[in-house]
Order: sequence, then structure tokens, then C-alpha cells
Amino acid sequence: MQQTAFRGVFTDRGSLFTRRLAGGSVYGERIVSAGGESFREWDIRRSKLAAAIRNGLRELPLDRDSSVLYLGAASGTTASHVSDLCPDGRVVCVEVSPRSFRDLLAVAGGRPNMFPVNADARHPERYRALLGESDLLYQDIAQRDQDDIFLRNASMFLRPGGRGMLMVKSRSIAVAERPDEVFRRVLASLERDRRLKVIQTVRLEPFHRDHLAVSVLWK
Ligand SMILES: C[S@@+](CC[C@H](N)C(=O)[O-])C[C@H]1O[C@@H](n2cnc3c(N)ncnc32)[C@H](O)[C@@H]1O
Repeated sequence: MQQTAFRGVFTDRGSLFTRRLAGGSVYGERIVSAGGESFREWDIRRSKLAAAIRNGLRELPLDRDSSVLYLGAASGTTASHVSDLCPDGRVVCVEVSPRSFRDLLAVAGGRPNMFPVNADARHPERYRALLGESDLLYQDIAQRDQDDIFLRNASMFLRPGGRGMLMVKSRSIAVAERPDEVFRRVLASLERDRRLKVIQTVRLEPFHRDHLAVSVLWK
């Protein structure tokens, strides 16, 4: 097992891993032991963040004690790896679907730094009282207005100098339009907000079709 350029992310025979913080397998991923420690395989086909790393993400803005707001956590696949990566921090996971939320609750039950919230991310004021400032806003919500949702949450929760990662799915925004054109419009819409600076974009093919990872700085 070898450390990658990203703290807490490891590689072995071409696969990515995170050091297991707690609990068992979350989504059927392999758990392997090495050097007296336990690691969970991070599936690049199941997680857009892992695919972004594989495809050349330059920075993973997560420290051991980071506070993360994760929008669209579903049943906790990627969120559980984020929880592995910041064992002394907290990962607040917002998910609107009651069914996914039930699974998320089970995953979070065994993880001391994961806090699930059953809410619609379009209305951040409804969970404002539960949250302080965040170091990272991570969003993976396949909705037409995903850029608006991201900006609304960033302005309410990101600290100055905080970071954001938005996983854009072009087909959720305009199914018939060329992905490049949709991505161009989303980036322009984000950058109209002067508090935000796009740092890097990473296409997620062939692991996630028509997806773009956008990494931003919140000034
Ligand atoms: C692509 S899935 C997320 C996958 C997950 N991020 C992962 O990598 O494990 C998108 C999720 O966003 C949720 N979602 C969609 N609209 C939402 C909203 N307005 N507020 C909160 N969650 C939403 C969906 O229910 C779904 O579970």
C-alpha cells in the first residue's frame, strides 16, 4: 500500500484506498489489511471524487480536522471516504431522498464524524442552525439548478478561503445540449459571483459520462 500525493489516499495495484476510520464495508468495497492497518478500496466508477483524483485533480482540500458540508450524500458511498479522510473533523451530509437517507443513517451510525441531515439543499436556511462555517463544500446533486444550489450554500456556510467542489452532470441541466456547452455556461454562472474563483476543472470520463468536477476557492 503506497501513499499518493493526497494525504490519506493510498494506492495498491492500480486501485485507490482510504484508511478505514470505522465500520465495515459501506457499498460492497474491498477491505484490505496492510502494515497492521485497514484500508477500504475507493471505487472510481462509484465515486466521482475518486474519478477526479484518477483523472488529474491537483488538490484535495481536506485536512484531518476539516469541516465538510456534503450535499447529495445519497447512501454515503463517497461521503464515507470523505469521513475516512478527516477523522478529527466533521462531515455534515445533506440528502433529500428518504430512502437514501435511511441507508445514510446506517452508515453514519458507525462513524463518529458523519452527521446526516434529511433536507432539501435548495433551502439551506432550514439547516443553518445545525451548522457552523465549513472548510469544504462538496456537492453532487443531479439537478437543473445545481449551480444556484451550490452558490446559495457556499455563501451561507463557506469560510473565506474555504474550498468548494461541484460535480456537474450536464444531462441533468440540458439533456440535448453538448456537454462542453453546458459546462461553459455553468462555469460562467459560477464566476459571475465575485467571491468565487475556479481553480481547476476535471472531466470524469470514462468513469462518469458527461460529468465535470469543478474545484473552486471561496474568497
Ligand atoms: C448522484 S447522487 C449522489 C451520489 C453520492 N454523492 C456519492 O458519490 O456517493 C445524487 C443525490 O442527490 C440527491 N439530491 C437531489 N436533489 C437534492 C436536493 N435538492 N437536496 C439534497 N439532495 C438532493 C439525490 O436524492 C441523490 O441521492
